[in-house]
Amino acid sequence: MARPGTSPDPSHAGGAPPAPQHVAIIMDGNGRWAKAKGLPRTAGHERGVEALRRTVEAAGELGIQYLTVFSFSTENWRRPADEVNVLFGLLKAYVQRDLARLKDDGVRIRVIGQREGLPADIASLVDRAEAETAGNSRFFLTIAFNYGSRNEILRAAQAYAASIAGNPQAEPLSEAAFSRFLDTREIPDPDLVIRTSGEYRISNFLLWQAAYAELLFVDVLWPDFNREHLESAISRYHERERRFGTVGPGGT
Ligand code: FPP
Repeated sequence: MARPGTSPDPSHAGGAPPAPQHVAIIMDGNGRWAKAKGLPRTAGHERGVEALRRTVEAAGELGIQYLTVFSFSTENWRRPADEVNVLFGLLKAYVQRDLARLKDDGVRIRVIGQREGLPADIASLVDRAEAETAGNSRFFLTIAFNYGSRNEILRAAQAYAASIAGNPQAEPLSEAAFSRFLDTREIPDPDLVIRTSGEYRISNFLLWQAAYAELLFVDVLWPDFNREHLESAISRYHERERRFGTVGPGGT
């Protein structure tokens, strides 16, 4: 595999704008993909892992530095236990199978979300993946697992409150200071959030961090997502004018 972030970035050719630094993806549509093929939903999740592998590789080649993917939400516990177990098993298998290669490729792995409540074997595997890749800085893969944005913000507020308890000299809270209590404290805000499967929702994903992200909703079901879809998403991102609350050129 080409090492993510090492291939020449074709988007720079001819003065084209650079790729967005951070792309986040809501990988949706696994169940519908499977149903359309007469397969069990879990087959869609399995093919979803292959789409994830393709996307990590393509993202690195296209010059993206940070990729964050939504793999299991705090709301997904409401799914049938069998499906929840398959999703946990897929995370485990993905890390076990891909960790050595990702590590060699300079990928830093992070898992965001509530660690509490994860089975002990998954939690320790995740700890190991993070520790073993902590020295890498070529490409940053963040897996949101047992993640919900409201849960993250609540945990951050609790951690902040604990940090100032009994400290009358505590500095007033700022946006930047609060961000340092979020799971994403070491990760820049996403520039582009993509949701596959034609649904138009953010579903409790990176609500704080995506305040100024460009949002892109594409019809493709996640197991079919490939490099061409990612390239097309980047082209559409470049058509957008990011104003961050200011006015555009010429005061428009
Ligand atoms: C949404 O599709 C997808 C998920 C809830 C799980 C995403 C998981 C993967 C892509 C594979 C697992 C990867 C790792 C690393 C664990 P859906 O099931 O809601 O699809 P539907 O809306 O068509 O039913």
